[in-house]
Amino acid sequence: MKPVYLDYNATTPIDEEVANAMMPYIREHYGNPSSSYLIGRQSKEAVEEAREKVAALINCAPEEIVFTSGGTESNNLAIKGVAFANKDKGKHIITSAVDHPAVINVCAFLNNHGFDITYVPVDKDGRVEPASVEKAIRPDTILISIMHANNEVGTIQPIEQIALLAQKHGILFHTDASQSVGKIKADVKELGVDLLTIAGHKLYAPKGIGALYIRQGTRIENLMQGAGQERGIRPGTENIIEIVALGKACELAKRDFDKNQLQMRTMRDLLLSGFQQKLGGKVKVNGNMAICLPNTLSVAFDKVNAHELASQISEDVLISTGSACHSGCTEISSVLKAMHINRETATETVRISTGKHTSKEEILLAIDIITKAIDKL
Ligand SMILES: Cc1ncc(COP(=O)(O)O)c(C=O)c1O
Repeated sequence: MKPVYLDYNATTPIDEEVANAMMPYIREHYGNPSSSYLIGRQSKEAVEEAREKVAALINCAPEEIVFTSGGTESNNLAIKGVAFANKDKGKHIITSAVDHPAVINVCAFLNNHGFDITYVPVDKDGRVEPASVEKAIRPDTILISIMHANNEVGTIQPIEQIALLAQKHGILFHTDASQSVGKIKADVKELGVDLLTIAGHKLYAPKGIGALYIRQGTRIENLMQGAGQERGIRPGTENIIEIVALGKACELAKRDFDKNQLQMRTMRDLLLSGFQQKLGGKVKVNGNMAICLPNTLSVAFDKVNAHELASQISEDVLISTGSACHSGCTEISSVLKAMHINRETATETVRISTGKHTSKEEILLAIDIITKAIDKL
């Protein structure tokens, strides 16, 4: 029997339809999109069709999409690209204490290169207060980068409100939407952002592909120099196979949005109510379910070490402790720390995340296995 996979925030499997869409580009269509003969033009068309599908999902123009290698590269391009292109205006950047290392460490790099960074705090639910952002704004602030939804606790940030502040002060605004795209609505016009990061492997495309939305007219410098692909912003011969995959994944995310969201939420809620029924007061939820991604559950089981629990069940149910991107590390997660969750609760915290294919049978099995393991521990 296959283990029950409940770590969709770490990564997702490649969707069957996505895999099928990739196949012709693995086996047959090898033309370079920059070549002018037929098979080159066909590849170019495939790239542009994929760009349209990505754009349609987040409601922007296709020309505003740049393909990258994933969430990390999109964040690097957005933050460093804006910082380098706008340093004549100022060298101050605002981010949050709960952003992903792919944002925090980019800011730390810029800090070593003469930029000033403010990390705004969060409340007990992991939410950035727009007023804290406004307080941090200075005359030399050139960029605000706040994630759309958190990878560990699922907290959705008030992006629209922060965007209004950014606009009022003439500051560019980037959001890392690696965890939100495909799970909740991520419409760049409604959000009011200038730049938005997409990570393919979080929405059933393969690992190693992503995209960055760059609002038309945004001043940004490219990080790599080369031939002029991706309008010169991200040169290098296009990764057509995975670009086609991301396009298909975005098409599916749009087509099946309501169905997927309902399934993820129903399964996540079934899991939580199962825990509460069987374990009662031993179950403590981190964050606030009213402003949480529909698929994410960050939960502490009283007096149960999360690492022991995860390893005990690791052949049957796959979950993570802290953030999967840096698992193996015994440091308390910086996200839980920023939420002022005490050390004891943090060491008892597991992250469980459902996916669009998670079934009731899987959830019932997971509840059974996890609660039995907890009784044993
Ligand atoms: C919020 C967030 N941002 C960025 C990333 C990095 O994305 P990628 O793995 O595609 O580089 C992740 C991956 O865990 C993430 O959760």
